[in-house]
Amino acid sequence: MTQLHVAEPADYPVLLLFGHVDGNTPAGVSHSLESIKGCPNPDQPIPCAMTSNTSVRLARRPVGLPVADDFRIDTSEVPTPGPGQVLVRVTLISLDPAMRGWLDDRPSYLPPIGLDEVIRAGGVGEVVASSDPRFPVGSMVQGNTGVQEYAVLDASGLTRVDPALGTASMYLGVLGMTGMTAYFGLFEHGRPRAGDTVLVSAAAGAVGSIAGQLARINGCRVVGVAGGPDKCTYVTDGLGFDAAVDYKVDSLRAAISNACPNGIDVYFDNVGGAVLNAALANLSMHARIVICGAISQYNAEQATPGPSNYMALLVRRATMTGFLVFDHAAEFRTARRRLAQWVADGQLTAPETLVPGSVADFHSVFLRLFTGDNVGKLILDISA
Ligand SMILES: NC(=O)c1ccc[n+]([C@@H]2O[C@H](COP(=O)([O-])OP(=O)(O)OC[C@H]3O[C@@H](n4cnc5c(N)ncnc54)[C@H](OP(=O)(O)O)[C@@H]3O)[C@@H](O)[C@H]2O)c1
Repeated sequence: MTQLHVAEPADYPVLLLFGHVDGNTPAGVSHSLESIKGCPNPDQPIPCAMTSNTSVRLARRPVGLPVADDFRIDTSEVPTPGPGQVLVRVTLISLDPAMRGWLDDRPSYLPPIGLDEVIRAGGVGEVVASSDPRFPVGSMVQGNTGVQEYAVLDASGLTRVDPALGTASMYLGVLGMTGMTAYFGLFEHGRPRAGDTVLVSAAAGAVGSIAGQLARINGCRVVGVAGGPDKCTYVTDGLGFDAAVDYKVDSLRAAISNACPNGIDVYFDNVGGAVLNAALANLSMHARIVICGAISQYNAEQATPGPSNYMALLVRRATMTGFLVFDHAAEFRTARRRLAQWVADGQLTAPETLVPGSVADFHSVFLRLFTGDNVGKLILDISA
């Protein structure tokens, strides 16, 4: 089982970031955990229904937009945790655009998901068997669960859900990778100053909604780019952005120019493509473009052309920087507490789209990211 761990400070549980997920039984079954197969056991209150584990595996590599046959539903025995591991009953599964890239067989910041492997995904769940006192049975944890009902995870890669900071779903959204991405992408790489004009694309989505609100909290003028009038209204009226541009109907370059009359100081880019081109055409001097993602290209079947007007960077003495949230793991704890405080103060709204279902619904729910059928963090809720 290949896993990528990024440690948080030692007095706080470590957050596991995405690595390979394996639903198979590891070696080293501890005695106290044998009750999994022979429940009930008062020491390990594991539901007797817990005999099989349904997972979603990669059947073949998608071409373009993934179709249902690219995935295979598998049923196997519930895996048994070994020393230093816990067994988690998964309740919430995070849907992330990056998962599309992991389905391709090409080098990236993580290895591709292998054929027949469980689909890599962040998740939250309840500990149902544990050999680590930091994660007792009944506690809620966040980790790299994958798209499956039960996951054996290294305890060193888990973050315990602290109800004092937020709900379980928030640990996938504003207090999880989503919030961390918005926080570090904006503050570390966008370096906004009060009064700056900040443009955010996919502004009604998980990362964009948080990034734009953080810019507002920071005293910036914030303009969102989103698809459709309802999302644009939500961005202004619901999230407090100063203006919104509908990339589906507006003449983008002119609409962004109208919404940003003094030019863009920071562009937080989640989509790439035409929106990036239009933003490049509207930069102020010394602008910072933060490349968070490029969802408009994730299902492209042909190589996509680069920004046609990148020379705007030279003219405006601007910079364009990519970043990866994982590189900031050492500071996640601090960021999580700040984000939780803003939520508690009522300054920060954490929108979520929770879709109830089973792991078999993974494919249809995943596609919502690409049709825009989500507001805020998209989560598959398999808790029922
Ligand atoms: N750098 C990092 O470390 C890091 C970490 C996490 C996420 N990310 C990136 O952050 C971005 C946002 O991720 P998220 O989880 O917050 O997803 P999200 O914004 O909640 O969902 C994706 C949204 O993208 C928009 N979209 C889909 N296809 C589009 C297209 N062709 N053109 C323009 N917009 C399109 C849709 O909104 P509309 O209805 O408005 O079209 C959709 O709701 C992604 O690019 C992701 O890869 C980067």
